[in-house]
Amino acid sequence: MKSSKNIVILISGKGSNMEAIARAAVAQNWRISLGARIACVISSRPDAPGLVAAAELGIASRVVDHQEFATREAFDTALANEIDSHQPALVVLAGFMRILTAAFVTRYTERLVNIHPSLLPAFPGLGTHQRALDAGCKFAGATVHQVSVDVDHGPILAQAVVPVIAGDTAASLAARVLSQEHLIFPQAIARLLAERSD
Ligand code: GRF
Repeated sequence: MKSSKNIVILISGKGSNMEAIARAAVAQNWRISLGARIACVISSRPDAPGLVAAAELGIASRVVDHQEFATREAFDTALANEIDSHQPALVVLAGFMRILTAAFVTRYTERLVNIHPSLLPAFPGLGTHQRALDAGCKFAGATVHQVSVDVDHGPILAQAVVPVIAGDTAASLAARVLSQEHLIFPQAIARLLAERSD
């Protein structure tokens, strides 16, 4: 029997994107349709609410607590060891709030995807929604992209656009963008997995 394409999802917080991916995997029966399964959710924080969500969804989870490591390199090595134990076809950054070393990114080239809450290449980094409001943008959105060594860069796989509405705050805009993230991220992942014949 063909071994399954394992997906490892990295989180740091709420994990709503992780949840959207997990729900799509069940609803679309990725085990059969794509030969894929979510093998593990790994959190960089022990108190991430997404860990509770993963448990409720019946998904195995691990914590690699960034505070336990003196250097970024040591953290990334421990994280890579945990990831590699699942032999992933895809490593998904879903609200993973750590900057990764170039060595880490290179190790997972073509297998590492991220979602960013802006229309990249506009507004890489943090505070995207307030920055979009401050710039007077009429549209905002989210981007799924392959990860390259520069933060929030790499080939774009999918984007969703939402309008900026008069009176928007960073929070109201973030909520509108997040609801689109929950659609495009699972779609982009399913497409990537379908393209992989291994
Ligand atoms: C999302 O907006 C994502 O684009 C950004 O962090 C947020 C994570 O939300 N990188 P969640 O943890 O998936 O709910």
